[in-house]
Amino acid sequence: MRRSSDLQPEIADESAWWRDAVFYQVYVRSFADSNNDGIGDLDGIRSRLGYLELLGVDALWLTPFYRSPMADHGYDVSHPRDVDPMFGDLAAFDALVADAHSHNMRITIDLVPNHTSDRHDWFQAALAAGPGSRERSRYVFRDGSGYDGSQPPNNWTSIFGGPAWTRVRDGQWYLHLFAPQQPDLNWDNPEVHADLEQTLRFWLDRGVDGFRIDVAHGMAKPFDLPNMDPRSLGTSGVLRDDVRDPRFDDDGVHEIHRMIRKVLDSYPGRMAVGEVWVTDDERFARYIRPDELHLAFNFRLVEAGFDADQVRSAIDHSLGAVQPLGTPPTWTLSNHDVVRHVTRYGGGALGEKRARAMILVELALPGVVYLYNGEELGLPNVELPEWALQDPTWERSGHTERGRDGCRVPIPWEGDVPPFGFSQNAHTWLPVPNEWNHLTAEAQLEDPGSMLSLYRHALELRKTQQAISGDELEWYGAPPGCFAFRRKGGGLICALNTSGASVPLPPGEILISSGPMDGAQLPPDTSVWLV
Ligand code: GLC
Ligand code: CA
Repeated sequence: MRRSSDLQPEIADESAWWRDAVFYQVYVRSFADSNNDGIGDLDGIRSRLGYLELLGVDALWLTPFYRSPMADHGYDVSHPRDVDPMFGDLAAFDALVADAHSHNMRITIDLVPNHTSDRHDWFQAALAAGPGSRERSRYVFRDGSGYDGSQPPNNWTSIFGGPAWTRVRDGQWYLHLFAPQQPDLNWDNPEVHADLEQTLRFWLDRGVDGFRIDVAHGMAKPFDLPNMDPRSLGTSGVLRDDVRDPRFDDDGVHEIHRMIRKVLDSYPGRMAVGEVWVTDDERFARYIRPDELHLAFNFRLVEAGFDADQVRSAIDHSLGAVQPLGTPPTWTLSNHDVVRHVTRYGGGALGEKRARAMILVELALPGVVYLYNGEELGLPNVELPEWALQDPTWERSGHTERGRDGCRVPIPWEGDVPPFGFSQNAHTWLPVPNEWNHLTAEAQLEDPGSMLSLYRHALELRKTQQAISGDELEWYGAPPGCFAFRRKGGGLICALNTSGASVPLPPGEILISSGPMDGAQLPPDTSVWLV
């Protein structure tokens, strides 16, 4: 890992700092609460920078903290160039950037270009101005279908359930791929481009090091808005595309990424990563052409089960998609939209064991890693009581899908009673379970066998070991249910056993293992690094 105490972007060898960086996603509402209203905020993050430095991450990604009515917890932005009072103010943001930089950590922020809040001035003006107006042309308004226009313009569904169209008083309909409070912008309108450019420059001028672009495969829509294939109608989730879906990955999106890249290129050392739920490798790769995104999340590791063949295929696809372009792959096991991986891998002691094995696999890979706050503590998903649920998915699905709150529960820091130092207020925005008393950062920090210690140790090795270098992998032969790969540059070997029985270890000296060895054998649900 290249490190420097000087974060000035003009330093040449630092300008592509993200190529092997470890990012840490801070879900701002849930990280740390400084003013005891039960909701995390910017000053809370600033107070925990020492912890993040100890953990050993290079950069943070902050989820949206802009002015928002919070219908989708900040992904419904009513003013993209201001901080919501719930999270602090611009001075708090500037202080956070300055402090993070003095801790040698970069700050990247979320950009939400696909939609705004319905309370954004533009949308309010669009409602007031009526059909055919310049104000309406910033969004996607259409007349309805059916003899009296009482049916939606097409059959598109919202990711959060129900139709993607809502009718307004004068009879027109507007498009929202997410909640009705998140109207989609019309990216054919130059004013929309100009406004995003203004937002980019606003934050770049304040010193941010980059952006995570929300729904980066959305934004552009086919001009005639053709119906969706009925086979994908019932599915929710941002993209599980076995059939092409006209709502996403329209070819027009690339022009928008080229515009964003042009702005970023005028600020050396800044980067953008896109949320790109596109599984076709060739279509995925289009997003990271040299004049588009610097990085794109590939969600294949999230979608792979704890199974050596599935994980290996996820790795091969992810590498295969980016290698022709010379772009680093971007790995992630969890984020604020998916079930936490301890739980996905079976939960309890087994889920933890497997999560330990998978973090060593992830950190052994070439490229960029995104960690999600709390995974370093081994937090599981929480089965929240119904009264606590807040994700719009819960209402929109008619209480059939619980949504994403279970992976967004506040971080347990210290002490024995909820909310474990997250806030002095016992009423946190989501309740923190009692059982998390043994998962606090405090409880894990000094325990060499804890998940936190494993993360710290592995992150330290990743930074200091020459063996962990080079862009390419080679696969070794391995028993069924297992794999082993070698980093071609430095020579590190990583082996994973997802079978039910111990297997012989590959040759080499053990650098770190996710659990105890079984003599000279690699036990089930365990991984190891060898040199
Ligand atoms: C992205 C975000 C998700 C949000 C959605 C709408 O998928 O990750 O949390 O709900 O976009 O902005
Ligand atoms: Ca707060």
